[in-house]
Amino acid sequence: MDREPRLYSQGIYEAQRRGLIERQRAQIADHFNHEFRGMTICNSRFLSPLARLALSMHNGVERILELGPGTGVAAAHMHYLRPEAEIHTAWGSSPINPYLIFKEEFFADPPNDQHATIFAELKRRYPDEFDCPKAESPESESITMDRLIKLRVFDELSEDSPFINRQIVSNVLNDELSQPKGPYDFIYEKCGPLFYSGYFGNDRLFDYLHEQLSPIGIMVVDYLPDELFLNTPNDLKVVFRDTGKLVIKKDFPRLEELCAAAAHF
Ligand SMILES: C[S@@+](CC[C@H](N)C(=O)[O-])C[C@H]1O[C@@H](n2cnc3c(N)ncnc32)[C@H](O)[C@@H]1O
Repeated sequence: MDREPRLYSQGIYEAQRRGLIERQRAQIADHFNHEFRGMTICNSRFLSPLARLALSMHNGVERILELGPGTGVAAAHMHYLRPEAEIHTAWGSSPINPYLIFKEEFFADPPNDQHATIFAELKRRYPDEFDCPKAESPESESITMDRLIKLRVFDELSEDSPFINRQIVSNVLNDELSQPKGPYDFIYEKCGPLFYSGYFGNDRLFDYLHEQLSPIGIMVVDYLPDELFLNTPNDLKVVFRDTGKLVIKKDFPRLEELCAAAAHF
């Protein structure tokens, strides 16, 4: 007989107890917060096609960092693509339950639209489960994480095998907390703190992330102002695409091949 599904918050308490989540005491007010607001189209985007390409060509990925991870959709996808890699997340206001991973079937044939969401996919599958009380815009629609558990969209992982190994939940570069520490072989962000510039300016954040990249590391982000690259650091190659920016350490073994493949995105 199936046992009663657990609450989304239970896994967060457990992960906190085990030291997997470090979190700022005072919450930042954040309308992307899924702990209270649930899943929306703003916190449930699939891993971008450019990131999927880069990750598929990067055979040496041991550690991944995602910034501003939302409900953990991209982190789940990265876990399926590189199950051996450790995944860390940093920044944002709500922790992810690391023992509930979106089922692999969602990622079998991910859409190529770089802003496609699991939220839209779930609404298509279960239209009657969504409350849309006079939603003025798609951004104001949401569904709670506990409701998603009841819809069985997650696989439950054992407490010894979380799909995210460490989470820092805070405002960007909050000096009171430890910061994500490299080396990271892959850094990913979609509409996160680099995009929103943070409170410290994205040049400081970019410099910090550059220091955390491993010698063969790659970063895929949506947006970085071009001025940041007027003097591109010597060890980096940057590919500018409409669909995001690809920042590659020049020692990455398949550098030219990846740059050529990225030209199609
Ligand atoms: C629009 S959501 C994107 C979530 C997810 N990456 C996606 O694409 O669905 C923006 C995320 O970045 C985080 N973020 C933006 N600015 C931030 C800042 N200054 N400090 C910490 N987190 C920030 C938000 O808390 C949120 O988790």
